[in-house]
Amino acid sequence: MKPIDIDTLLKNTAELCERLGTPSPSTAAILGSGWGTAIDDWTILQTVPYDEIPVLGAAAVKGHVGALHIADTGSGLCLVFQGRRHWYGCTSWDPVVFPAFLAHALGVDMLLVTNAGGGIRADLQPGDLMVIDDHINAMGVNPLQGPHRQELGPRFPDLTRLYTPELRAQLDTTAAELSIPLKHGVYLAVSGPSYETPAEVRAYASLGADAVGMSTVPEAIVAGALGLKVAGLSCITNRAAATGGEALSHDDVIAVTRSATPRMQALVHAFLGGAGSLAADRE
Ligand code: HPA
Repeated sequence: MKPIDIDTLLKNTAELCERLGTPSPSTAAILGSGWGTAIDDWTILQTVPYDEIPVLGAAAVKGHVGALHIADTGSGLCLVFQGRRHWYGCTSWDPVVFPAFLAHALGVDMLLVTNAGGGIRADLQPGDLMVIDDHINAMGVNPLQGPHRQELGPRFPDLTRLYTPELRAQLDTTAAELSIPLKHGVYLAVSGPSYETPAEVRAYASLGADAVGMSTVPEAIVAGALGLKVAGLSCITNRAAATGGEALSHDDVIAVTRSATPRMQALVHAFLGGAGSLAADRE
């Protein structure tokens, strides 16, 4: 896997800024598997399809729209990535980490990362929404590997408070106001694209993982290294390694996220609206 190419990221950032007129979003969101419809009721100001952004290219996974938007949350602008590029589908880190890099370059204060995941902890059942409290990187790689470039932050970034405690608390407050049940847990990232074996899931449980998925951790690491506040949400779409019954399929994963769409929409909208005003308050 090729290390991050800063020059490619800078070039794509400059081209997008010229096209979008250098907007000033205060928040950003990466909408992963099944989360794309969370912005269906938003005011979208500008849209650029991924296939018109050379570093991103076309999103190849079902359930990922593949478009960048500037949206108005009502209390500020949000840079929205509707669909993500996964490590397992790329030949370089650049498409995976570009959203975090662009968000930072545009002065964004906080990034919300969302995904679909398999529940490992007994109470995490299909349809549940989970706040990511912390992560375990079991991908076997790290996007910051390679020669150090100061444009990506320190050589050894501290991840102790990567998923910012006040944003996690704000997710709880927002969900409670909307009467949306919300769970918390540790998200473990694997490289994919195969789902886990039962033995792997037992091993991950013993390591302290509550849910498992194939994404999010690389973007969160880069965002944290760049100094962004990070919040994370998983939609639990299945019991990990199909311990709930039927064999796993991506179509089933997407179908479960559909049943959670009204909760995803309400929570993401209210949270990013509130986070935008928090960011504005600090200015
Ligand atoms: N494992 C890995 N990734 C996933 C899963 C899973 O069980 N469910 C949704 N994405």
